[in-house]
Amino acid sequence: MVKSFKIEDTAAKLVEKSTLLKILNYIDTVDLKTPVLLMDGDRIRRNAATIGRGIDGCKVFYAVKANPSVEVLRLLTGLDVGFEISNIGELNVLSALGVNPGRIISSNPVKTTDFIKSAYSYGVRYFSYDSPTEIEKLSQHAPNSNLYVRLAIPNEGSEWPLSKKFGVEIEDAMSLLTAAKAKGLNPLGITFHVGSQCNNIYNWNIALDKARLLSDMAREAGITISLINIGGGYPIKYTKSVLTVEAIERHINKLIKERFDTTGITVHLEPGRAVVGDAGIMVARVTGKADRLDGRWLYIDVGVFNGLMESIGGIKYTYITETRGTTGIKDNWTLAGPSCDSFDVIDKNVQLYEPEVGDMVLILSGGAYTISYASEFNGCSIPETLIV
Ligand SMILES: Cc1ncc(COP(=O)(O)O)c(C=O)c1O
Repeated sequence: MVKSFKIEDTAAKLVEKSTLLKILNYIDTVDLKTPVLLMDGDRIRRNAATIGRGIDGCKVFYAVKANPSVEVLRLLTGLDVGFEISNIGELNVLSALGVNPGRIISSNPVKTTDFIKSAYSYGVRYFSYDSPTEIEKLSQHAPNSNLYVRLAIPNEGSEWPLSKKFGVEIEDAMSLLTAAKAKGLNPLGITFHVGSQCNNIYNWNIALDKARLLSDMAREAGITISLINIGGGYPIKYTKSVLTVEAIERHINKLIKERFDTTGITVHLEPGRAVVGDAGIMVARVTGKADRLDGRWLYIDVGVFNGLMESIGGIKYTYITETRGTTGIKDNWTLAGPSCDSFDVIDKNVQLYEPEVGDMVLILSGGAYTISYASEFNGCSIPETLIV
């Protein structure tokens, strides 16, 4: 049955027209079981082909954590990208797909011993680290591997900061490079992460300034830095426009050229969100409505626990509601998920046309960090991923 959605200009500008049309057509042709994550395969291909192109000598490794569904990974194996993994489950999916280990790196600075052993025996030879304990583990279970040390850098302006858990200052990073060399490992690189959904271009300035200082110190100590891993962080459009990939990469490329002798430098890039985020539209259905003392509540079959975890950490989504017989009047809603937990509130003060129970709600830019965070808490199903 052909569905009717009220799509406003603001929403239409946030998502690629071809992606939206393709997904709307798909919805009309099948009887969809919700919640479901529909991914535009062409969009993923275009994102993967665009990202990294503006940086000289850049190799792209898709951060599997952003969307580890087999369908997405299978599609990516056919493209010119590698994979960044952090844990054994991610390795297992890639090995089941027969991915060549030369295409895999691991940038989790603190890995389980089992993961290090399995990754090494599979053939993975690139690992990040930021502590002496990790050097011990890697020298024992991944001898002669190539290591890149994680620097701490500010994450200001990133909607999903990643600066608190990992990373060391320059002096400590220098000691770690020397210590890794002394243990027979190959400390050839430096890494950092500007924070996910980073719309502040200057984070890359600070990061690359620090990397340059560390690289100079390393050279004096007889260690040549030949790899700069610039992490991920590229932003996508959720509710507003963001820096484009082209603008970010023009900037980064200039910064790298100004700071390093680029003939001897390989750049690794680990985008997650920007590869899959805007290719996905989460399709949910309205399960209930209620007028409460604090206003109108709309309940849908995907929520904080089974797909929209990032909504409680600051990511705001854009929603399009199906409008069968709507009055055409927008209302202010609190949007909540299907579990009984009061933590399961996705957003407040969302202006939406009033849908009916059973109507669909489209959640734009839902391809990244949704199903990878999802649990079956309270018996709620994790959205299936379908490539359309
Ligand atoms: C080490 C590492 N690399 C890459 C990424 C991907 O970042 P993004 O999705 O912002 O591109 C992450 C995200 O958490 C990360 O921790």
